[in-house]
Amino acid sequence: LKAEAEQAIQGAKDLETLKQLRVKYLGKKGELTAVLRGMGELSAEERPVIGKLANDIRQTLERILDEKETALEKAAMEARLKEETIDVTLPGVPRPLGSIHPLTAVIQQVENIFIGMGFEVAEGPEVEKDWYNFEALNMPKDHPARDMQDSFYITREILLRTQTSPVQVRTLQAKEGKVPVRMICPGKVYRRDDDDATHSHQFTQIEGLVVDRGVSMSELKGTLLAFAKQMFGEDHEFRFRPSYFPFTEPSMEMDMSCMICGGEGCRICKETGWIEILGAGMVHPNVLEKSGYNAERYTGFAFGMGVERIAMIKYGIDDIRHFYTNDLRVLRQFQSV
Ligand code: PHE
Repeated sequence: LKAEAEQAIQGAKDLETLKQLRVKYLGKKGELTAVLRGMGELSAEERPVIGKLANDIRQTLERILDEKETALEKAAMEARLKEETIDVTLPGVPRPLGSIHPLTAVIQQVENIFIGMGFEVAEGPEVEKDWYNFEALNMPKDHPARDMQDSFYITREILLRTQTSPVQVRTLQAKEGKVPVRMICPGKVYRRDDDDATHSHQFTQIEGLVVDRGVSMSELKGTLLAFAKQMFGEDHEFRFRPSYFPFTEPSMEMDMSCMICGGEGCRICKETGWIEILGAGMVHPNVLEKSGYNAERYTGFAFGMGVERIAMIKYGIDDIRHFYTNDLRVLRQFQSV
């Protein structure tokens, strides 16, 4: 029995077989156990002899079973380690990386430039009261200038804001007549336009406002020139042209020369060699008064620009719809911006 068991144990190829062998020889119904159980039938002389023998065998078998088990476990572990070896020289699996959307990138650039000039960044609601969007900005209900900004009305008094100027009104109100006010407000605006290469019913604006004692037109021009040079580079010329906005007087628009661009990059450039980049002006006294500021004491300037327009000019994008269609071929070109 001992010899047979030893041979079987040494020959076991895996842990499962070994477990079965342990049961077979040493288990409750095992062969050695049967011998020990049969001891009662033996004579008094035989009993101690056979008993000792059986116990010795049991101990031996237990020892070699344990040894074999350790050996098999070690072998199994080694096999697994060998199989799971990692080849660190294999090329990795590249994961697609997202990037900042060009409109977000331009907003951040504009914000950084103005923050550098001491401006704060403010935000306001996109669903706005008619009063903030128009009335407080010197555009009463029957004002013809309302036609310049065809609006999405929700009720008679509530609409999707057509410009970010209402944020400036809200900021003035919150400041309760105190100066200085130096803020810009980026955000989405909505107008009833048919979408095409240069129009979108939803687009993005950044407007700015400064109110203080003795704010002048020359400060406005200096601020805008400093901004534009940082945004577009020193190589461009800029000019101011008289214009009209109901909330500023006098009003003007700022143009940038696009003579130096040639070939593909500047298709957006007009025949004249100038392209409009923003509107601006001295805050109309009515606007200051409506927001609780004494227009005798304080003056201010305001400006507003379309973010899509700035991005199109800066990066030579010829269709505003590229910003909204999420074409990865377009977006990937802005990964380094
Ligand atoms: N809110 C104006 C617009 O959307 C832009 C602007 C702002 C013009 C401030 C002048 C001063 O047309």
